[in-house]
Amino acid sequence: MRKITIILLLTIVAILTSCSNTEKVYKIGVAQCSKGPWREKVNQEMLAAQHLYEHDVKVDIVNAFDSPEVQARQIDSLANTDIDLMVVAPYEDIGIINDAIARVLQAGIPVVSFDRKTSADYTAFIGGNNVEAGLIVGQYIASVSRGEKPLVMEITGLLSSTPALERHIGFEKAMKAFPEAEYICRKSDWSSDSSCYYATQLIDSLRRHDSGRLDHTYIFCHNDGMATGVYKAVVEQNVEGRIKILGIDGMPAEGLEYVKFGHQVGTYHYPTHGEKIIRLALDILTGKPYERENPMLGFVVTPENVDLVTTESIELMRQNDHMVTIHDKLESYFGLYNTQRKVLIGSFIAIVLLAVAVILIWRAYIQTRRVIRQRQELNEEETLFYTNADSRTLRQVFETPTEEMPAPRSQDTIFAETLNEAIRKNMGNPNLKMDDLGDEMGLSRVQLYRKVKTITGLSPVELLRKMRLQQGYVMLTTTTKTVAEIAFEVGFNTPGYFSKCFKEQYGKLPGALRVHEESES
Ligand code: FRU
Repeated sequence: MRKITIILLLTIVAILTSCSNTEKVYKIGVAQCSKGPWREKVNQEMLAAQHLYEHDVKVDIVNAFDSPEVQARQIDSLANTDIDLMVVAPYEDIGIINDAIARVLQAGIPVVSFDRKTSADYTAFIGGNNVEAGLIVGQYIASVSRGEKPLVMEITGLLSSTPALERHIGFEKAMKAFPEAEYICRKSDWSSDSSCYYATQLIDSLRRHDSGRLDHTYIFCHNDGMATGVYKAVVEQNVEGRIKILGIDGMPAEGLEYVKFGHQVGTYHYPTHGEKIIRLALDILTGKPYERENPMLGFVVTPENVDLVTTESIELMRQNDHMVTIHDKLESYFGLYNTQRKVLIGSFIAIVLLAVAVILIWRAYIQTRRVIRQRQELNEEETLFYTNADSRTLRQVFETPTEEMPAPRSQDTIFAETLNEAIRKNMGNPNLKMDDLGDEMGLSRVQLYRKVKTITGLSPVELLRKMRLQQGYVMLTTTTKTVAEIAFEVGFNTPGYFSKCFKEQYGKLPGALRVHEESES
């Protein structure tokens, strides 16, 4: 029995440990700073990469929509979940965000700074090379405008964010190497409204002072979103096709289309590669060697290569979407598989328990039968021993011979005999109540009354008195006890009352019986 229990327990433990032995899924929290096509693309790529590598990851993305305060709060809350690593695209290099990042690192959670950097420490950085982006866009302008002595305006993104600062550094460098150009810079934020404003101002001024230069003017914005603001100004000011606009990002639904339609003369394809972010995160989490700085290269998209780049980008995005679909399907299959596995394990355990229960019940049944048989044999032996009835069967020992059986008696006879016996036994008690006798025989007062009346024609009280007097009569004629003694003995409270009742019953006083005897002797 104990062996079976141990085997059963070991089986269950083995099954349960095999259940919990599923591979670890790393949880990655992503704190995005803004929205827009570029961020959406990178988010999709990260989600698609959840089942791409040797370990599954679970990516949880939050977005601060350009608010440093919101982002700082989101970083703190993400760190309070059970994430294994955090990817942060910090909105800008600002105290509250830097402090929040420092808290994450302090809590022992690795931080991958992505796309933007801050002065806070980080475990690793991955993102586009923004100095290079600014530089090659500047060089591209130089190459296409050589001999033109162009006017080049740079409208920056938010300079407290590293991409804007670095793009500016790179662009300025290219402009320094291109002295023929007149270079002006407007410090802005990432909004299209501000770039529209700066472009309007410039067009306005050129129109007034040197309208011919409009055809040799290049406006470089730090992203394609801002470039749309410039295009708006150009259209509004009726100088479409004259001013040449450039941006950064090169997303299919944004910069690539603008280049294709001729709204822009170029854009820089700013790499997203969400799958590389997840790869880096996994390398950190699984203790594999990794680079702390992981710059990603981009390239300039021009009217010459835009079709090719667009086709490639759209194809890549479609594949990415497929991967997301596959991921979603896998998730639901895994869910189903896990439920089925649990049901299977549950059923298996139930079957094992049932089998053990059946075995135990069977064993108990066999044991009980054995014990009963042993007892029967023992009893038989005992009976035979004490009755010396070895020549008879055991059953015969218990059978009463028919001749010794009493004649059947009616229920009334049995009742009358029992009552008679009870009255005789108790009649000496002057306080005796017929109810007491009824109780003793298990009859209610009414039942007793009915039964006595049916059998004797008397009420229970009359019957008791009659029997007392009869007993008195017997004693008067068979003993030498005095009338008073007899009266008390048969249960009368006073000899006087005994005599009175006696007279009524027998027509003479009790003393009369004695007088007669005395006179005889
Ligand atoms: C999106 C974005 C991009 C830009 C990048 C720089 O939020 O503004 O357009 O290239 O961020 O961090």
